[in-house]
Amino acid sequence: MRTVRIFDTTLRDGEQSPGASMNVPEKLQVARQLARLGVDIIEAGFAIASPGDFEAIRTIGGEVEGPVICSLARAREEDIKRAWEALKDAPRRRIHTFHSTSDIHLKHQFRVSREEALKRSVAMVQLARSFVDDVQFSPMDATRTEIGYLCEVVEAVIEAGALTVNIPDTVGYTIPAEFGAMIKAIMDRVPNAGKAVIAVHCHNDLGLATANSLTAVLKGAGQIECTINGIGERAGNCSLEEVVMALRTRRDLFNADTAVSTEEIMRSSRLITKITGMSVQPNKAIVGANAFAHESGIHQDGLLKDKSTYEIIRPETIGLHKTKFVLGKHSGRHAFRTRLNELGYTLKDEEVNSAFERFKKLADQKKDIFDEDLEALVSDEVTLVPEVYSLVDMSVSSGMNQKPSATIKLSVRGKDIEKTGQGDGPVDAVFKAITSVTEAQSRLLKYEVKAITGGTDALGEVVCSLEKDGKSVSGHGADTDIIVASAKAYINALNKLAARKQ
Ligand code: KIV
Ligand code: ZN
Repeated sequence: MRTVRIFDTTLRDGEQSPGASMNVPEKLQVARQLARLGVDIIEAGFAIASPGDFEAIRTIGGEVEGPVICSLARAREEDIKRAWEALKDAPRRRIHTFHSTSDIHLKHQFRVSREEALKRSVAMVQLARSFVDDVQFSPMDATRTEIGYLCEVVEAVIEAGALTVNIPDTVGYTIPAEFGAMIKAIMDRVPNAGKAVIAVHCHNDLGLATANSLTAVLKGAGQIECTINGIGERAGNCSLEEVVMALRTRRDLFNADTAVSTEEIMRSSRLITKITGMSVQPNKAIVGANAFAHESGIHQDGLLKDKSTYEIIRPETIGLHKTKFVLGKHSGRHAFRTRLNELGYTLKDEEVNSAFERFKKLADQKKDIFDEDLEALVSDEVTLVPEVYSLVDMSVSSGMNQKPSATIKLSVRGKDIEKTGQGDGPVDAVFKAITSVTEAQSRLLKYEVKAITGGTDALGEVVCSLEKDGKSVSGHGADTDIIVASAKAYINALNKLAARKQ
C-alpha cells in the first residue's frame, strides 16, 4: 500500500478565495488543527506577498510541530530569499517555487521564451537548494503546456535538485482521462522522474478537481495538493476531505492511502467555515450537513436493517458523532474542562474560568448543552484579535407597529460609549447603533444566521463579512439571543478591520 502525501494549501491558495483572508492568530489556529489532522505539508503562505503572510509562515514554522512547513515563492531571487527568511526557524521546511510553462502564459503574460523560462526555473531551484534540502517546483498552467516541453522542464528541475515536482491544473481545464495520461507521460518519458515525488494541484473550475487528482494517483502521483472544504482561487481547489475519504474508502482500488486522521475532518471543516465565514453547501460531499442524512423510506429501511446497505462511510470516521448531551447546569468546572480537552481545546486557566462563567449563564438559559454549543462558546472565548471594541450592554425594542430601536454600550479602547440607533429591523437598528459608536466606514458584504443545535433555545451563530478599502474580513458571534449574536459578530469583524489597519 503506497502512502500519498497530503499537501494542504488552505492557508495559501485557500486564502486566495474572495473574502477568506485570515489574520496571523487565525492562521496559527488553522495550522495547529492541520497538524492534528495529520497532513504531511502545510503551505503556510507566500512569504513575499505581504508582511502578514511572512509573519504567519514564521510563527507557524516556529510553533507547529509535525508537518513540513512550506512557503510559496515565484522563480525570483527576492522571493526565494524572503521564503528562506520566513522559514529559517522551522525544523522541517520547504520552499515551493514556480514558473509558468504554457505558451499562453509565456507569450501573453511573462513575455519570455521557453528557453528562458526553463533556465530561470533551474537557476531558482538551485538557489532554493542552497537554503533548504526540500525544494518543490511547479510548472504553472502545466495542463495547457506542450507535453514535450513540460517533460523537459520536469527533467531539468529534478536534475537541479527539486525533490517534488507539482503538476498544476491552474485554470481547472483538464479532465480525468487527459490528466491521467499527462501524469503517465511524465512518469514514462522523464528519465529521472523516479528521483522526485510527482504531485498534483487541481482547481475546480469544471467541478473535476477531486476526480483529476484521484486519476493522477492511479497513474503514480505521490502527493495531492488540496484545501479544507475545497476553498481556493475562483471555484476552489481539490477538497482535502474528498480525496482523503475516496482513498480511504476505496483503498482496494487505489492500493494507496494517506496518513490523515480522518476523525479530525469535521472539526477542521467547521474551523475553516468559522474563520473564513464561507459556509459549506448542505449537499457537499463528506462535510455537508446532508452528507449523512437519509431521506428516502427505502434507504431508511435498509439502514435500520444493516448500515452497509446505504452507508459507505461511517459518520464517526470523519468525527461526526451523534449530537449528544454532555453537560448541564449542575456540571462542574472539572467536567467542563475535561470535555473541552476531549474536544481538542486546550485553554489557558483564565480562558477556562471565563468560558466556564459563560457556560453557567448559558446553562441557565438552555437545559441541554451539546458539544456544538461548547465549541461555539469556546471559539467566542478564544479571542484571536485584539479587542478595540467590546460589547458592554445592549437593549432592543421592536414590534409590529413600532420602529425598531437599539441602545448599545461599547467599551472603546477602555472607555464606555453609549448610542441609540433605529433601523428596518432589530438587527439593522443594532448595526446602526454600533456604527454610530465606532464611526465604522465599512460595507456589509454578508450577514448569515444559523442555529447551532435544534430547539428554540438553541445557540444562534452569526457570521458577518465586512469590506473596507478592498479588503474583507469575517466576524463571528454566538448567543442564545440572535440579536446579541449579531452584535458580537459585527463587533468581532470591526475588531479585525481595526487590527488589520494597525
Ligand atoms: O494553481 C496554481 O498553479 C498554483 C501554483 C502556484 C502551484 O497555485
Ligand atoms: Zn492554485
